[in-house]
Amino acid sequence: MKKLLLSAALPITALTIAALPLTADEGMWQPHQLPSLKTELKNAGLKLNPEDLTDLTEFPMGAIVSLGGCSAAFLSPQGLVATNHHCTYGSIQFNSTAENNLIEKGFLAKSLQEELKAAPGSRVYVTEQVTDVTDKVIGDLSADLSGIDRYKAIENSRKALIAECEAEDGYRCRVSAFHGGLEYFLIKQMEIKDVRLVYAPAGSIGKYGGDIDNWMWPRHTGDFSFYRAYVSKDGKPADYSKDNVPYQPKHFLKVNANGVEEGDFVMIAGYPGSTNRYRTSVEVKNQFEWYYPNFRKLVHSYIDIIEKNAPEGSDARVKYASTLAGLNNVEKNWGSMIESYGKGDFLQRKLQLESSLTNWLDTDKQMSKKHRSSIDALNQLILEDQKEQEKQMKLWAMGRDALSSTASNLYRLALEKQKPDAEREPGYQERDMTRFKEGLKRFNRRWDENVAKELYKFFIAEYATLAAEQRVKSFDTAMGIGSTFDADKFAKKLDQMFAKTKLTDEKTRLDWMNKSVEDFKNSDDPFIQLAVATHDENFKRELKDKQRSGQFQQLRPKYMAAMIDYYNFLGKPIYADANSTLRVTYGNVKGYSPQDGIYATPFTSLEGLLAKHTGEDPFNSPEAQNRLIKAKKYGQYQDKNLDSVQVNYLTTVDITGGNSGSSTLNDKAEFIGLVFDGNYESIIGDWDYDPKLKRGIHVSSAYMLWVMEYIDNAHNLIEEMTIIR
Ligand code: ARG
Repeated sequence: MKKLLLSAALPITALTIAALPLTADEGMWQPHQLPSLKTELKNAGLKLNPEDLTDLTEFPMGAIVSLGGCSAAFLSPQGLVATNHHCTYGSIQFNSTAENNLIEKGFLAKSLQEELKAAPGSRVYVTEQVTDVTDKVIGDLSADLSGIDRYKAIENSRKALIAECEAEDGYRCRVSAFHGGLEYFLIKQMEIKDVRLVYAPAGSIGKYGGDIDNWMWPRHTGDFSFYRAYVSKDGKPADYSKDNVPYQPKHFLKVNANGVEEGDFVMIAGYPGSTNRYRTSVEVKNQFEWYYPNFRKLVHSYIDIIEKNAPEGSDARVKYASTLAGLNNVEKNWGSMIESYGKGDFLQRKLQLESSLTNWLDTDKQMSKKHRSSIDALNQLILEDQKEQEKQMKLWAMGRDALSSTASNLYRLALEKQKPDAEREPGYQERDMTRFKEGLKRFNRRWDENVAKELYKFFIAEYATLAAEQRVKSFDTAMGIGSTFDADKFAKKLDQMFAKTKLTDEKTRLDWMNKSVEDFKNSDDPFIQLAVATHDENFKRELKDKQRSGQFQQLRPKYMAAMIDYYNFLGKPIYADANSTLRVTYGNVKGYSPQDGIYATPFTSLEGLLAKHTGEDPFNSPEAQNRLIKAKKYGQYQDKNLDSVQVNYLTTVDITGGNSGSSTLNDKAEFIGLVFDGNYESIIGDWDYDPKLKRGIHVSSAYMLWVMEYIDNAHNLIEEMTIIR
């Protein structure tokens, strides 16, 4: 997902106020900002002192973790980690075959010994420290640096800070840009590398409703699952070993078995990936009128080709299950964006905001001097960037093939290894080698020759629609692509290459990690040859992209500085767009009106779940569950108001992709469920927050425990957690 900002002239009037952002419940706050929201948090219902939320190693923040792409939390002193089913999906998939399909059956380890290795690359990150390093990163950069020099200077400072931070074993550090690079923070995380799958309900619970119900309310999905974090005997992060022991976190969350009531305070601490709340109108228009519609077409074809060539029930389908879930998720997300934009007046309001900002500048000489030129310069740069977008999109398509990208990455590694570690491209330093290897190891459980071939043929045909001067000449030459694309000739070429390559073998791939540039140049593997032939040209393009990034790194912060000054003038607090760093958002349990005359209540129940059951995927609730519901066996999880067990609920928290798997906390920071989705109408909220429509969808702790106790007999886990009844 991507970008947005500015233009004309109107006085600061009622119109301006109407166009203003930030309403109640909006905001993804950095923990250190929370004390400044003391009154708001108290009014919303928080019982803790906001100061307590700023210490990342104390309760409750010490229990909150990242999985890299998803969020999670410790629920026991033995490193038990709760997250979404769709967050462990890749690991469930990795351990599944058509004959032993854990996606369908679910999985429960009754003892530590039965736990399964999560997919290679799975991690649990515990954020311990966040430090402002803005001065160190951009403090002495001259305003006259070229784009590429700025890019490299920032990258070098980042690398130096990371190296210093990672001098302590077991940590992974990064430097994240906030407000487009106006501020930089160094983030230090303990990196737990031995992660195991403990429990996942059957897919007919964990993904009940599938892609039909995805992004929808009312919802009845048991989107929860458990991992366990393991460390060496001395308590340090370590690669997988039989001798490793469960990690003992200093803090974990207690589980409140009652779930929530309407109006209750809720809070989410997690790792939202990316939002675009401060983009320019030039960016908004382009994103919704060009980018989403065009990219979505490509995604459609991507999905169709996989579905056609990996029929349901085949091993190939299991291999692409995770890829497909991701593609379907984004396809629907972008569909909603396009729909909401078409129906609404987002662009109009964005233009209004920009004119109010400009008007304000007109009334303040000093501010005008400070900000005016940078705003125009940013829009200029954005327009230049957009000229290349069709080319970028088709080159993206071209890069989808796993064999060619694996070969390119391996060759790049050989080239980078010729340099001292500190000078290598990020991703190719010693600190990256474990991940690099894990990527090579995931390959075979996520790849099928026939599907890959069909995808490559489609994507290269797309690429070949670019004008010859926009294409990669060395690629065309190597693949025998002339001025017109000959699909049959290309298919034959591909058959030969696939027949000859040895890169589909894991050991061969791993061996290439240690070969020299000469070895690559002398290789007769067709994909290695292709990588060598195209490298120089691709590398030149990469430098051009970095030049552009460096220009953005100069202009975007200036624009954000203008925004921040404007917000200050208006007396509004401002939060940075999401960037996969730890944020806190809060709100209340609340329904919404999706349409004139309709009110959606904030709860769903077991009976509602059963009413959706058709017996056919994705609405095939397990027989055991249906029987329990018909018998009204609610046990101690009964919700008196609902006269049932609450399954899912809605709240006003401000979340986006990456927040998935976050524990939902009540006013005392007890666990009351997991956030796993947003409602369809809220999706455009990544760009355009609307308090009337923006809701998070959560699975209730009550339903989780009910499933664990009555359906899956996960008594071992229930006993392990601290449960408040
Ligand atoms: N919409 C969810 C999110 O973005 C992902 C749900 C995955 N499930 C699915 N049916 N594809 O976090």
